[in-house]
Amino acid sequence: MEQLVYLNGTLLPRGQAVISPFDHGFLYGYSLFETMRAYSGHIFRLQQHLDRLTCSANFLSLPLDHFDLEKACYDTLTANNLEDARIRLTVSIGEGESAPDPPPHPRPTVLISASDYTPPSPETYRSGFKTIVSSIRQNSQSPLSRLKSANYLNNLLARKEARAAGADEALLLNERGSLCEGSTSNVFLVKGHALITPNEECGCLPGVTRQAVIELAAEIGIPVAQREVQLEELLQADEAFITNSLLELMPLREVDGKHIGGQSEKGETGEVTERLMIIYRELVAGEPDRLP
Ligand SMILES: Cc1ncc(COP(=O)(O)O)c(C=O)c1O
Repeated sequence: MEQLVYLNGTLLPRGQAVISPFDHGFLYGYSLFETMRAYSGHIFRLQQHLDRLTCSANFLSLPLDHFDLEKACYDTLTANNLEDARIRLTVSIGEGESAPDPPPHPRPTVLISASDYTPPSPETYRSGFKTIVSSIRQNSQSPLSRLKSANYLNNLLARKEARAAGADEALLLNERGSLCEGSTSNVFLVKGHALITPNEECGCLPGVTRQAVIELAAEIGIPVAQREVQLEELLQADEAFITNSLLELMPLREVDGKHIGGQSEKGETGEVTERLMIIYRELVAGEPDRLP
């Protein structure tokens, strides 16, 4: 069966989904997106993803009130007979003129797709990701750094550098040289029995998974410091991991060929990271189905 996608209120075969060549999402990257993960028919933290999207859409004067996005996401999932899936929701400012002036009366484009998602193997989680520090800097002063916008070229270029170096993820520093985030992830360090993660002032995306990890850590009595973090601290950390909605928590093994603490060369996950990975999976499994 051909994949069905949701486009502006209608579910249709992906081959029939048509977007204007003058859509400013396409012409100028005037668009936002969310990547979510569904487990057994339940979209994890959908409301938090929609809250982040709505907040960014308000900032960009991109009106979304006419859309029931929660229902649309679930309709797309079920129309494709999927229970465990990756869901991508994209909204753009819609069609405009060819000049770079936003349309005065925007009629947004909303596109949702759901597809099979195969997580990395247990061996990959055990051995952890190899990372590089990208040559690209995140600009903490740019409003774009806090939006999950489809203006994603910095992230793609950083990811390309990682791939070229045989690494799994690229880490980005900000313009001050502090650790910011991964190209598609947030970063956590474990030092002693505490977590450290760059704060939002560093220019990182306020990740939904990051927030879930911060809450889980608080529940089990692990302190979390959100602050400016230097790259040297990452190298000296006992453990480190990245987070995003698809990967959940992924241990980090090395940065630029240098080994990180507790992620031993034998490929054993550090104790704190492992504990958080387990309770994150319990959280995911324990969330009630909320099919509308
Ligand atoms: C730049 C960036 N930072 C962080 C994240 C993690 O966000 P979330 O946990 O909401 O998936 C992502 C997700 O793709 C991202 O693109």
